[in-house]
Amino acid sequence: MAAFRVGFIGTGKNPDKPSRMGYAMAYRHAPGYQALGDRCEIVACADIVQDHADAFAKRFDVPRTYLDYSEMLAKEDLDIVSVCTWMHLHEQMVVDCAQAGVRAVHCEKPMALTWGGAKRMARVCEENGVQLTFNHMRRFGKPYRTAKALLDAGEIGDLVRMGFGDGNLYDSGTHHVDMCGYFNDQTPAEWAIAQIDYSTESLVFGSHNENVSFALWKYENGVYGECITGPGTAGKDLIGAYDRLVGTDGVIEVGPYGKGMPILRIKRKGSTEWESVDCEGENCHGPGYHERVIAQLVQCLQDGTAPETCAANALQSAEIMFACYESVRRRALIRMPLDIEDNPLEEMVASGALNPARP
Ligand SMILES: NC(=O)c1ccc[n+]([C@@H]2O[C@H](COP(=O)([O-])OP(=O)(O)OC[C@H]3O[C@@H](n4cnc5c(N)ncnc54)[C@H](O)[C@@H]3O)[C@@H](O)[C@H]2O)c1
Repeated sequence: MAAFRVGFIGTGKNPDKPSRMGYAMAYRHAPGYQALGDRCEIVACADIVQDHADAFAKRFDVPRTYLDYSEMLAKEDLDIVSVCTWMHLHEQMVVDCAQAGVRAVHCEKPMALTWGGAKRMARVCEENGVQLTFNHMRRFGKPYRTAKALLDAGEIGDLVRMGFGDGNLYDSGTHHVDMCGYFNDQTPAEWAIAQIDYSTESLVFGSHNENVSFALWKYENGVYGECITGPGTAGKDLIGAYDRLVGTDGVIEVGPYGKGMPILRIKRKGSTEWESVDCEGENCHGPGYHERVIAQLVQCLQDGTAPETCAANALQSAEIMFACYESVRRRALIRMPLDIEDNPLEEMVASGALNPARP
């Protein structure tokens, strides 16, 4: 079989100094394709900054660079495109890939800047028979896989509640809400309710993210999701862990807060003691997660099966996040399906309903 022709949109800045102004995620995707040997060949990359494209092409031995991704799509007959730009650009880039005849698009998270945009990307890809995935890579980490296996084995009884504590609901929250979907067997959500504080502007990869949030949502199977986000101690004190699963008879924590804590621990059915679970050196972010995501999406493209990072799963988490922000706007509990098109947080800032001060 001829190798899949892979292209990149957005190559990244500062690959060796990641920050919330740029993680150069393309540098995390590329080794995933290269690890697949002759099944994939990175043939081109596009970036509006020539230096970024040149540095990436040099690092990964990419033969052609473009300043205009549309030109790359028109000339390169690509099978797979990794979209590694900031979120306000994802929607149109994914749509353009799908309409240019690309067979699979692997896009960075969060899906899109708006709920309407997220739905449109998924719809256009479906209409064009394009496999669309998002880089929710934690699904492939040992701490998470092991937590799910323990849950499925009944070690904490039946799942009652899932929670997370982290920086924000949208940019980093997308990973956690996605993991809730994974733990809860992709059961759709029924409603969401939330409140936020947004007094100081916080732009992450160019998009607004609240300072503090408290959110609760319910799934159709009766399981609850909850989160506390922000820089303070509330998430740490009240949720107690990066991700927490509460069952009828026990608790599992991925990334419990505190010095010297294990990456995964469980209080099993019938026990009052915490037990550490070995995850062979993997933490909440890796190593190896991006490579596993890409190995699976390439395999699925060959097999015609659905990757775990598929758009349908990402839509479920995006709907919950946008419903939380819509709850803030309407001051109400929001029932699914979510009947808006925009991003309520962005809109509340634009309209002046929220007026965060420049930091
Ligand atoms: N999966 C994760 O854990 C994770 C971690 C960090 C960031 N991210 C996400 O990755 C995405 C990309 O972030 P990053 O940190 O790689 O950004 P980055 O700033 O490092 O790279 C973005 C690149 O896109 C280029 N670009 C901008 N407009 C373009 C256009 N029109 N055409 C082509 N290239 C264009 C920029 O020049 C830059 O090189 C964001 O959505 C972010 O949320 C994901």
